[in-house]
Amino acid sequence: MGDTTIGVLGATGFTGRLVCQALERRGIRWIGGARNPARPILSSEVADSRQEGMRSPHALCNSRSEILAADVHDSASIFRLLRRSDLLINCVGPYAELGLPVVKAALEARVPVFDLSGEQEYVRRCAAFDAQARRAGIVIGNSMGVEVALSDCAAALAASGLCQVDEVHVAGAAKDFRTSPATRSSALGAIWGEGFTREGGCYRPAAVAHRIRQFALGTPFGTSLCAWYPGVECYTIPRHLSVPTVATYIRVPDWSPAMLKLAGRLAAVPHRLGVSPHSVGLLAAPLRLARNAAGLLGGAPGPSRPARFEIRVDVLGRTEVQLPTAGRRGDQTSQPCSSSAQRSVSVTGLDPYGLSAEILVLTAMRLLSSGPAVGRGGILSPSQVVPAEWLFSQLELLDDYDFGWRLTAPWSQESSPPPSPASSAR
Ligand SMILES: NC(=O)c1ccc[n+]([C@@H]2O[C@H](COP(=O)([O-])OP(=O)(O)OC[C@H]3O[C@@H](n4cnc5c(N)ncnc54)[C@H](OP(=O)(O)O)[C@@H]3O)[C@@H](O)[C@H]2O)c1
Repeated sequence: MGDTTIGVLGATGFTGRLVCQALERRGIRWIGGARNPARPILSSEVADSRQEGMRSPHALCNSRSEILAADVHDSASIFRLLRRSDLLINCVGPYAELGLPVVKAALEARVPVFDLSGEQEYVRRCAAFDAQARRAGIVIGNSMGVEVALSDCAAALAASGLCQVDEVHVAGAAKDFRTSPATRSSALGAIWGEGFTREGGCYRPAAVAHRIRQFALGTPFGTSLCAWYPGVECYTIPRHLSVPTVATYIRVPDWSPAMLKLAGRLAAVPHRLGVSPHSVGLLAAPLRLARNAAGLLGGAPGPSRPARFEIRVDVLGRTEVQLPTAGRRGDQTSQPCSSSAQRSVSVTGLDPYGLSAEILVLTAMRLLSSGPAVGRGGILSPSQVVPAEWLFSQLELLDDYDFGWRLTAPWSQESSPPPSPASSAR
């Protein structure tokens, strides 16, 4: 890593600062890009936030740091940052609104980019650049934050050894979770916009909460009600697993399924009326109100350090089994895909924002130290950028995040009944 420099776009944002701190702690040279490079990095907010038990994104004190003016709407400023970077970590969201110009510039400048996107619209539109990225041998790592990187890797781990994968179900839960402004915009945009689900190998539009299921999560969540939402895993997982059905769920309040479905339908009304959350300035005030009022999305003042999360990924598939042939005694022959298998991986930890920064830095270091990415370019999912086992083992070594993962026993051996799609409340 001696001569390399990692660029951080959005260095003055919540995650951007945590990424800069993680790079700084490891002695990696970095260069920041921010709309306002003069924005104080060390401020009195440090003391305040510590008092409140909040994670401080402001405790950055770096004699070597350099921050350039960079605005997504000013392409020259993005190219200036890219020219000084061996890899760019893009922490500027919402990505559906601000992400694509950075991808285009990075491909032109032939610099790899990682983002933390969780918005289907952005990930879908990125796919159009896959051929260009492959030809150039440039890695565009989509969705390298906690929310998607861990579920994408968990799906890869749960599916390993299966000869056929039929369904993947992802459920996420967080306790004491508060969000940054860009996360609230991204989440609202995702719920507001048109969401897609993957079923039987096809993508079809779906409303938030059109499916509601119970998932058996660990402490402190227990068996929880989870509602479908438009997660990006239905795009990232099929890039590396041949799987016809991928569904994403998020833990929701314990209301009746009918109430949850009504809430989901109401959330889709503005989109049906053709109103976009990004483009209608007139709606800015009610939008802000809605964002702050939404308990699900959290409100001010910002992400909390102790937030605990769990991501559970259930994979349904088939394993290859050996069956005796009718011939000589003792002969075995392979009967592919003849035994059904159900596997779950649960990933738990603390501090989704801090852990996202660590994931970005660890994966960036690994990509840069693995030499030229010839033949490895493309629009990639997290588990295509790095092996899932490697990432999980690196995260387990970190002190602050209480990170852990486990492959649970098949559902049939668990105390709770298997969550099967047939039991979904439709
Ligand atoms: N998937 C995950 O697990 C995960 C985890 C964490 C974050 N995220 C996503 O990452 C994104 C950033 O999150 P965050 O917590 O860092 O949000 P944040 O604190 O609100 O920061 C957003 C940053 O974007 C910058 N920005 C906004 N418009 C810009 C423009 N036109 N040009 C350049 N910079 C611009 C802001 O600049 P100023 O500083 O000048 O305001 C700020 O630095 C969000 O979309 C969030 O959803 C995902």
